[in-house]
Amino acid sequence: MPKIAITGKGGVGKTTLTALLSYVYAQRGHDVIAIDADPAGNLGMAFGLSAALDAELKPIAEMETLIYERTGAQPGTVGGWFKLNPKVDDIPESFSLQHRGVRLLRLGTVRGAGTGCLCPENALLKALVTHLLLRKNQTLILDMEAGVEHLGRGTAGSVDAFVIVVEPGLRSLGTAEQIRGLATEIGIRRVYLVANKTRHAEDEAFIRAHADGLPVLGSLPYTLDAVAADQGGLAVFDQSAELVAAAERIADALAELTAA
Ligand SMILES: Nc1ncnc2c1ncn2[C@@H]1O[C@H](COP(=O)(O)OP(=O)(O)OP(=O)(O)O)[C@@H](O)[C@H]1O
Ligand SMILES: [Mg+2]
Repeated sequence: MPKIAITGKGGVGKTTLTALLSYVYAQRGHDVIAIDADPAGNLGMAFGLSAALDAELKPIAEMETLIYERTGAQPGTVGGWFKLNPKVDDIPESFSLQHRGVRLLRLGTVRGAGTGCLCPENALLKALVTHLLLRKNQTLILDMEAGVEHLGRGTAGSVDAFVIVVEPGLRSLGTAEQIRGLATEIGIRRVYLVANKTRHAEDEAFIRAHADGLPVLGSLPYTLDAVAADQGGLAVFDQSAELVAAAERIADALAELTAA
């Protein structure tokens, strides 16, 4: 059951790919959990969640009582005493929302993220992500911001695929290069690119030419169906059979590479 982390520059299609792959794996009978780990995330919308359901999907980082209960400290406390290995194994089931065969969980914004802030909410999220990466029988797809937030040396080996989404343009490819550096630093080895919004073979060729040795798992074509899904608040996998088919091929390529 693959553990896949998805990252890339803003707007490249991380959330779209997360929704598509989650759908594909769920269709294949996997127990799938999709994690919205982007503080500004809107994974629920890509799954076509109504505003009311989306609002039910509360970010773990904002659950003050839970954070206090599990870590022994109030969120926001810095430097005080709190548990570094809080109990988290029941959180995925208790606080996720089951929708279209996929469990959705939202992590939320962590205060002082990126600064390595030692605060209880960070400890809880870190323990949660680590727990999810080590679970054997569940497929995990992590929709992240650009970077390696939530991952660390201890869990690098559990990431089966660290996928950087790129568009046919130098800017997202430049960001990919930076992210790749961060991933390598913490020991992540299986780094791949997925091309998104490609319009023709030249776009794919452009990305391959600038991939700098990173394997390209596949590409998602540019399609107005994705635009319409976003405009209508509809699940992207219901609006575009073409994107679902492309995601199927990406899942197959991943299985082949990770089996090797
Ligand atoms: N293959 C595609 N064809 C056309 N439009 C697309 C495609 N993939 C994504 N989009 C559109 O691009 C926009 C950004 O996509 P998405 O939200 O998936 O990116 P993101 O990387 O998660 O963005 P953010 O950094 O804001 O989280 C959305 O409006 C989406 O519908
Ligand atoms: Mg997103």
